[in-house]
Amino acid sequence: MDRTYLTTPIFYVNAEPHLGHTYTMVVVDTMARYCRARGLDTFFLTGTDEHGDKIAEAAGATGETPKAYADRISTLFRSTWDALGIRYDHFIRTTDEHHRRFVQHVLDEVNRRGDIYFGEYGGLYCTGCERFYLEKELVDGKCPDHKIAPKLVKEENYFFRMSRYQDRLLAHIEAHPDWIRPERYRNEVLGFLREPLEDLCISRPKSRLEWGIDLPFDRNFVTYVWFDALLNYTSAAALRGEAFFDGFWPCAEHFIAKDILKPHGVYWPTMLMAAGIPLYRHLNVHGYWTVEGDKMSKSLGNVIAPLAMTARYGTDAFRYFLLRESVFGLDADFREETLVSRCNGDLANNLGNLVSRTLSMVQRYFQGKLPERSRPEPLDDELERAFTTAASEIHEHMRNLGFNRALEALLRGTDRANKYIAETAPFTLAKQPAQMPRVGTILRNLAEALLHTARLVAPFLPDTGGRILDLLDVSPDRLAGPAPRWGEGLATGHVLKAPVALFPRIDARPS
Ligand code: MSP
Repeated sequence: MDRTYLTTPIFYVNAEPHLGHTYTMVVVDTMARYCRARGLDTFFLTGTDEHGDKIAEAAGATGETPKAYADRISTLFRSTWDALGIRYDHFIRTTDEHHRRFVQHVLDEVNRRGDIYFGEYGGLYCTGCERFYLEKELVDGKCPDHKIAPKLVKEENYFFRMSRYQDRLLAHIEAHPDWIRPERYRNEVLGFLREPLEDLCISRPKSRLEWGIDLPFDRNFVTYVWFDALLNYTSAAALRGEAFFDGFWPCAEHFIAKDILKPHGVYWPTMLMAAGIPLYRHLNVHGYWTVEGDKMSKSLGNVIAPLAMTARYGTDAFRYFLLRESVFGLDADFREETLVSRCNGDLANNLGNLVSRTLSMVQRYFQGKLPERSRPEPLDDELERAFTTAASEIHEHMRNLGFNRALEALLRGTDRANKYIAETAPFTLAKQPAQMPRVGTILRNLAEALLHTARLVAPFLPDTGGRILDLLDVSPDRLAGPAPRWGEGLATGHVLKAPVALFPRIDARPS
């Protein structure tokens, strides 16, 4: 695999960016940086989902036009991701003109193939989810996500013959066991497919909703939000031309949370089949964040704003917490005191300490200049092995979306390096002039460990990776490309900078 096309959901503009959106963004940004550093041709897509009932309602509540409202919140999403240092390659908006044309083109194509028909439908509709629910999907008569009873909606609409594709979809899932991962979500989709699949209502009459993309074959209707939104993944790729589309689209890796599994695991692949477009490569599904055990919600007043967290703790500390505290695929719980203790323990005491101790000893004993390195002793080999092992474990975990385990593997490496300082005791050896060559070797090994640490940590904590390289006074280009052989990363006589505290210890916030 030499290419990858990574996507996040496009977020509804009826809410401001919060912890949940940020988690998906951080996961995908980490994956994108990891892939780029390994030399993969990587494209990272995100954006905003701007049509539909609930956006029109939210705009109405502020007295803005839907477009002015969507412009404002979409800009807010973009500026939040920019402030968090998320490096996406394209930001799509469903109100973009090329997207509108693409959606209409696909609708025409699916219609031409005979997969769209006009009919009447009555059903239970949840505006929060923008979809119809079957009676049995409800919990106590309410939408399981929004905990409100869906409205009974009965109207004439256009339908997509989703049912036609049920067997093909089932066969695809069976032939590709890790297509939807982790497995629990694959099983959930198989569960949906155990029952006969109904056709999908894909329109809304303009008499009820104007804020959408017109059906090209009947201007009295607009498309249903999901038919519009899901196509963002392909319209953004098509915008870059045929060669890009043909090369990147089949390498699509979608990242979503479990709340939108059905649209991505059922509607989307069947839509692609009907449009004659190849299927995506993987659907990667993560769990949901709660806040101190509660669902995050405006009404509970516990919505976590990412920029408030990064202002308080720094971007990398926040990223670290999100990636380290959750197991991809499972739910996770946000607690500020856990964030603080992880940052103090893992970042300040382990990683940060290694950097500052190494640099200060190089300053103290060699005025910042890297000394000669002589014959390695067994402990030196062990240190080298710790970093080779960390690199290969990280690789293995990243293949399986084990972000937390990759970070654990990395910190086992830096922990080993801290122990190496304790075991080799350069500060004691330095008291005897005859031991200075050995002290030099130890510090060379530690500087090498820092270079490897910078490269390994950078996809997860980009600022930290960059800052370590800066302290080592080497070019940021050294973050990518093949790893240098141990001992060959930095030259004798190269001057390192004076130490700084990368992660000052955070005092517990007064409650
Ligand atoms: N617009 C649709 C997606 C269309 S994609 C073709 C949508 N938008 S959303 O704004 O509601 O975003 C849902 C996504 O936000 C989730 O799938 C997940 O990526 C992220 N999260 C929102 N809340 C979350 C949590 N509490 N926890 C984890 N992720 C969450 O659905």
